[in-house]
Amino acid sequence: MRIPTSDDSFQNERVLPEIEAAVRGVLLDSRGPRPPVIPDLEKDVSDLLGGCIAVAVQSGTAAMMLALRGMGIGPGDEVITPPNSDLTTTSVVSHVGARFVLCDVEDDTMNLDPSLIEARITPRTKAIFPVHLAGHPADMDPILDIAKRRGLRVIEDACLSLGATYRGRLTGLIGDVGCLSFGVGKVISGGGDGGMVVTRNEAIAHEVRLLRGVGSYPSLTDLPPEQRALANSLRFEREGYFVQMNAMQAAILRVKLPHLAAWQAERDGLAAHYAARFSGTPVRAPIVRPDCTHTWRDYVVRVPQRDAVRAALRERGIATHIRYIPPVHLQPVHAKLGLGPGSFPVVERIASEQLGLPLYTGLRLEQVDEIAATVLEAISGATVRS
Ligand SMILES: Cc1ncc(COP(=O)(O)O)c(C=O)c1O
Repeated sequence: MRIPTSDDSFQNERVLPEIEAAVRGVLLDSRGPRPPVIPDLEKDVSDLLGGCIAVAVQSGTAAMMLALRGMGIGPGDEVITPPNSDLTTTSVVSHVGARFVLCDVEDDTMNLDPSLIEARITPRTKAIFPVHLAGHPADMDPILDIAKRRGLRVIEDACLSLGATYRGRLTGLIGDVGCLSFGVGKVISGGGDGGMVVTRNEAIAHEVRLLRGVGSYPSLTDLPPEQRALANSLRFEREGYFVQMNAMQAAILRVKLPHLAAWQAERDGLAAHYAARFSGTPVRAPIVRPDCTHTWRDYVVRVPQRDAVRAALRERGIATHIRYIPPVHLQPVHAKLGLGPGSFPVVERIASEQLGLPLYTGLRLEQVDEIAATVLEAISGATVRS
């Protein structure tokens, strides 16, 4: 494809000499398997988010699973979450032994609809798990209000929303615990997969740290190199996992994080340019709620004749995405739930209209012009033919 939907190489190229130096630093560090770059990255993220506990792990998926377990969610518990996320959001709930309970979304933001949540609560419900889809915050205040009244935890899937704010608060730090992803194509990506649990809750963070490092914290590899040699035994307090972040990822992320705001501003400009091109046309551009900011990790429009428009863009070498389709309840793996078509009408309608257009740091305004013009031309062609 001449224009992909996202392309991390632009980010990487801008800071390549620093990335090369950082990676060399890790490769040539003789102090052991886990140099201090990981706690350094955790401090960088904490500082960037205005102070929190940050625990680096292998992926957003690992972050979500450890966060659930860190809150003590397990067999017999239910967690309310939307049907239009990455399959990992619901899978982690199953993997900790709990049951996910799906709840439909708002038409405009595509995020969990707070007005539908209470009807999904049962005596087994333990947590609400909103997703800040595409990088736009879910409507957190009513969610927090329900959680408070009903004694529930709130875990945020902030894998796409690093830096996005809701009424002045950063996503990921609004509920009890937030999960970030630094995987390929995310707002800030390392050289592969990476994730982080962020929280202000010491007890959750402690549990996540124990689970991340096989069951001990500090584990040998968490200790500064000079203390490592003095430690002669390890106490395991949990049967944990081995899902620490790779030092190479941490080194690359430390180079890229300081550019978050500038790259965000660039994506804001691209999104505004798209919005101007689509104003007054049949294309429904994504909204940004008052008092919210969007990361524009995904720019998802709604169009008539979506599949024809998509094909026309493909013919011109312009890639598009239709993420998280079919929705979770219509995936073969969840057929046994018996939730057929019509179970979540808003998600299903969005699924038939949504089209993700290219938007990434490094995309040029004239490319936005070309993409928008091609979309509009394709819609009028498709409408004439139908
Ligand atoms: C909404 C959402 N949540 C969670 C994840 C999982 O993140 P990771 O790929 O880092 O495991 C993804 C991955 O794309 C995602 O899109």
